[in-house]
Amino acid sequence: MERIGLRNWLPANPPLAAVVLAAGLGKRMVSQQPKVLHRLAGLPLAAHALRALAPLNPSHTVVVVGHGAEQVRSTLGSSFGPDDSLSITYAEQPEQLGTGHAVLMAEPALQGYKGPVLVMYGDSPLLRTDTLSALLSKHKQATANLTMLTCIAEDPSGYGRVIRDRNQGLIAVVEDRNASLTQRAISEVNSGVYIFDAEWLWPHLDRVELNPRGEYYLTDLIGMAIEEKGQKGEQGNAGRRSTQSVVTFTLEGMEEAMGINSKLQLAQAEEIIQARLRRSSMEAGVTMLLPETIYLGMDVHIEPDTILYPSVILEGKTTIGSGCILGPNTHVIDSQIAENCRIVASMIEGSQIDQGVTIGPYSHLRPGTHICENVHLGNFAEVVRSTLEPGVAMGHVGYIGDTHVGEGTNIGAGTITANYSSEKTKSRTIIGKNVFIGSDTMLRAPVEVGDGAVTGLGSVVTKDVAPYTVVAGVPARVIRQLDQPGEEGDGAVEGEATKGGE
Ligand code: UD1
Ligand code: CA
Repeated sequence: MERIGLRNWLPANPPLAAVVLAAGLGKRMVSQQPKVLHRLAGLPLAAHALRALAPLNPSHTVVVVGHGAEQVRSTLGSSFGPDDSLSITYAEQPEQLGTGHAVLMAEPALQGYKGPVLVMYGDSPLLRTDTLSALLSKHKQATANLTMLTCIAEDPSGYGRVIRDRNQGLIAVVEDRNASLTQRAISEVNSGVYIFDAEWLWPHLDRVELNPRGEYYLTDLIGMAIEEKGQKGEQGNAGRRSTQSVVTFTLEGMEEAMGINSKLQLAQAEEIIQARLRRSSMEAGVTMLLPETIYLGMDVHIEPDTILYPSVILEGKTTIGSGCILGPNTHVIDSQIAENCRIVASMIEGSQIDQGVTIGPYSHLRPGTHICENVHLGNFAEVVRSTLEPGVAMGHVGYIGDTHVGEGTNIGAGTITANYSSEKTKSRTIIGKNVFIGSDTMLRAPVEVGDGAVTGLGSVVTKDVAPYTVVAGVPARVIRQLDQPGEEGDGAVEGEATKGGE
């Protein structure tokens, strides 16, 4: 028998459809790239809109694409949200004939759907979920045909102005370019977020007329709704949705509803988003010595009691454990850094760093690197696709690529793994535990250096080195055997093998 879970007894989510407009080129960006793919805090503009939307759990989400449709589609993907709960349908707008026309392109994808349709623009990345949710509540409460979000802007230039009559009743939205001087002085603007009743939206959208600029403006629907209301009388009919056909919800200030049309606005929005991200990190216990110099990506998580010195950039999917000190001048991308690490003036990409590691100044960790606990990387160390086991020390300049370094090994100054051959293939180097690689050693991969071995300074190691053996020279030859731990003898190394850099 089929089990009936609790879920089956709960009422289904009330219906909500969302349409995100993302078809425009964005001429004012002066860019080859579709506007909605320009990034803020590492995420495309349209993805910010989708993030704000996802918690509302819409049953349908249609993204209208046109310019660079393929690129937009492949960047945003077919689902969104922390658990991919938002599944996205794409609708194509072959020609960019305006915002009204763009919404019309979503109609086939929403055929048969009844309920509220939230329309938002893909170039408005600062909207918060709470605002969308408040707008939706207001729409439902008022049983309106159209609920729109407006803002009181300090500088309304560029936005559609909200025109009201003497009694504060809405009359229309007039675009900046069509506004008279008096209308331009109005500070209430259209934020480009609306909720329509589906059954009202589609027939009315069909009736929007082409304007002299050759576009169908979505905002013309406002005038239509008002006119209808006028014809029906102020109170409207006694029917289900009779009270008010258009309702507005107004925010003080432009911060949230800012639309990005230019690189200048992109930079202004970045400033706002960075301030938000820094604030929430500081509220969660992170110390920032000079917050305005810190740059954070949307998917960065920092644990409490970590200190960020000035000029730290953390990007991509990055986590920083507690008790770390980062910077000054450190750039971390897509990396996981555990507790109590100290990283100064270095760049870390695609790497995992375990607790208690010290790095820098001036080191570069590249993708595929795993630095285990208590490793010390000093100045000018470059490491890529390698694992450094606990306690490895590489205090000075060197390059370690495609290498596994065993616990407790010391890598002398100027050590280079020659992992790239003239045949353009990469080979691995394996260095055992407690090895002593002397200064200026070249290791020609593929090569293996056994546990406890020693290379003399300036060695060019072209053949495998047996454990507990000292090699030196060019190419490196065996010069003596060492006692293994537990054997007799003092294990001293003569001559060339010298600790790097001290
Ligand atoms: C629009 C509003 C304006 C409002 C402002 C808020 C209209 C007519 N004007 O102006 O009242 O104050 O947003 O930010 O709606 N798009 C398409 N297809 C098109 C045209 C546009 O998908 O044919 C998309 C764009 O990619 C963009 C969004 O719709 O994401 C808004 O278009 P945009 O040209 O930026 O409108 P604004 O001039 O900013
Ligand atoms: Ca815009």
